[in-house]
Amino acid sequence: MTSDHSIWASLPVPTFIIDPEDRISDVNSAGEGFLNASRKSVVGNPVWDLLAVDAPLEEAFLRARRQSTPLFVNDVDVGSGNRPPLQCAMQIAPLMGYPGSMIMTISPRELAGRMTLGNSVKSAAQSAIGMAEMLAHEIKNPLAGITGAAQLLSMNISQQDLELTDLIVAETRRIVKLLEQVEQFGNLSVPDFKPFNIHDVLDRARRSALLGFGAHMKIIEDYDPSLPLAYGDPDQFLQVILNLLKNASEAADPKGGIIRLRTYFEHSFRLRRSDGSGHSLPLQVEIIDDGPGLPDKIRSDIFDPFVSGRENGTGLGLALVSKIISDHDGWVSAESVPGRTVFCLSLRRAPKEEHSKENT
Ligand SMILES: Nc1ncnc2c1ncn2[C@@H]1O[C@H](COP(=O)(O)OP(=O)(O)OP(=O)(O)O)[C@@H](O)[C@H]1O
Ligand SMILES: [Mg+2]
Repeated sequence: MTSDHSIWASLPVPTFIIDPEDRISDVNSAGEGFLNASRKSVVGNPVWDLLAVDAPLEEAFLRARRQSTPLFVNDVDVGSGNRPPLQCAMQIAPLMGYPGSMIMTISPRELAGRMTLGNSVKSAAQSAIGMAEMLAHEIKNPLAGITGAAQLLSMNISQQDLELTDLIVAETRRIVKLLEQVEQFGNLSVPDFKPFNIHDVLDRARRSALLGFGAHMKIIEDYDPSLPLAYGDPDQFLQVILNLLKNASEAADPKGGIIRLRTYFEHSFRLRRSDGSGHSLPLQVEIIDDGPGLPDKIRSDIFDPFVSGRENGTGLGLALVSKIISDHDGWVSAESVPGRTVFCLSLRRAPKEEHSKENT
């Protein structure tokens, strides 16, 4: 017979016992980990002081206590201490034999809930891109003519009219830049698969970000040093990381923000296709920023081309990320609440024989 104590200590989800005065009367070790505090320092404290929940939970909680019924809450953001909130599901039930006391479990939605935002840019979007690419090519030539003509005109006109020709030149330049981005999308070749070290690529991306668009950011490395080699095209992967770092830098306060580059190994993560085939994607790379989060209006479409929440955005950055990762048979997902936006990439590891080839 198992003892209550061993069940309590083994529960893998953060679990709390709450007394009739809404103070924590016990917490299991997963709960200590969640709060990042010891049981001793937690017990006796009002539960809602330690856990910040973004839903109007207290009334439902009171009702559950009064009527002795369980309460299930999905998709709440739960923050604790100075950690940014995590999306969680909560289960609350009256504790049998202890009138007024409740037991509460919190399950953070990590890998299990990661399939939220899709990454299929391959179908309809692909033809939109093909179209845009063709247009880009056709429009660039006449634009060069327009810029040239405006520059010629500007040579002998009044100061006032000069403003207008300057405007023509500046705006056509902006369009050319946009078109070049569209073309870059179309030029993407099939990945040149080889084993590569993810951390080397992350380092290169980090250094180039800090010298340019990300100069106002702090980029923290949180690497699993034992991560095996990945299998893919390192140059294309660099492009992916740069796009994600750029977005995080652009979303951040101009005074700065923090980006965390995290890698870890998740043995159980597999991609399963609708035809039943599948393969393992054990290498995980997360780009985490503490900016304002994805705008609500576009959050379900961010991987589609030409979807942008920024004034001058083309909306191609994440479409390119999605295309490259899907060409690599990988997976990309995003999770975002204000203060914590995570883009997670899941990649294949290099086949064993490729490892040994590398070493010889
Ligand atoms: N880390 C992030 N934090 C907040 N919002 C983000 C983040 N990453 C992306 N977004 C939102 O998603 C939108 C789409 O991103 P995407 O990179 O595809 O296009 P873009 O940055 O607008 O333009 P481009 O990358 O082509 O210059 C962005 O405009 C922005 O609103
Ligand atoms: Mg972008």
